[in-house]
Amino acid sequence: METTLIILKPDAVQRGLVGRILTRLEEKGLQVVGLKLMKISDDLAARHYSDHREKPFYPGLVRFMTSSPVVVAAIRGVGAITVCRNLMGATFGSKAAAGTIRGDFGVSNSFNLIHGSDGPEAAAKELGLFFGPGEVLDYPRAVDCWVYDSSGGKAE
Ligand code: RTP
Ligand code: MG
Repeated sequence: METTLIILKPDAVQRGLVGRILTRLEEKGLQVVGLKLMKISDDLAARHYSDHREKPFYPGLVRFMTSSPVVVAAIRGVGAITVCRNLMGATFGSKAAAGTIRGDFGVSNSFNLIHGSDGPEAAAKELGLFFGPGEVLDYPRAVDCWVYDSSGGKAE
């Protein structure tokens, strides 16, 4: 099982799309193991997007991410990082395929509704930035025996 950090960005919260986007992740079979509404500080945005510090879009990105509350979620499942990136779609709303979250709900290239960690290292770093001890919960779901085939000993 993998756990990834998802952020429903300020545009998703302001546009009232939180429920619909979370529903997409839940419908896929992914498990919500952490969830909160919060305002991102300048310092947290800088640490989260430190890899983009030198990019031309960085100042606008930090301004956007700190402009209004976001919903952060810890999402768990087999291959959750890639599964979430595929559900999100390409970075730019104008290019993202129909059927993906960015493809269905937005047309902007920078206001693109959702962030998802792009690899295991990023996921570990980002979950540590946004969730404190005890805020990501391990709990069994009764439905897991129908979401995954565990007859071979591991969830597939
Ligand atoms: P994210 O990190 O938010 O999940 O998005 P991503 O991996 O698909 O894209 P990334 O390259 O990491 O870019 C981070 C965010 O910066 C904004 N961006 N704007 N206007 C632009 O050229 C531009 N390029 C990137 C987007 O909000 C993107 O999600
Ligand atoms: Mg990224």
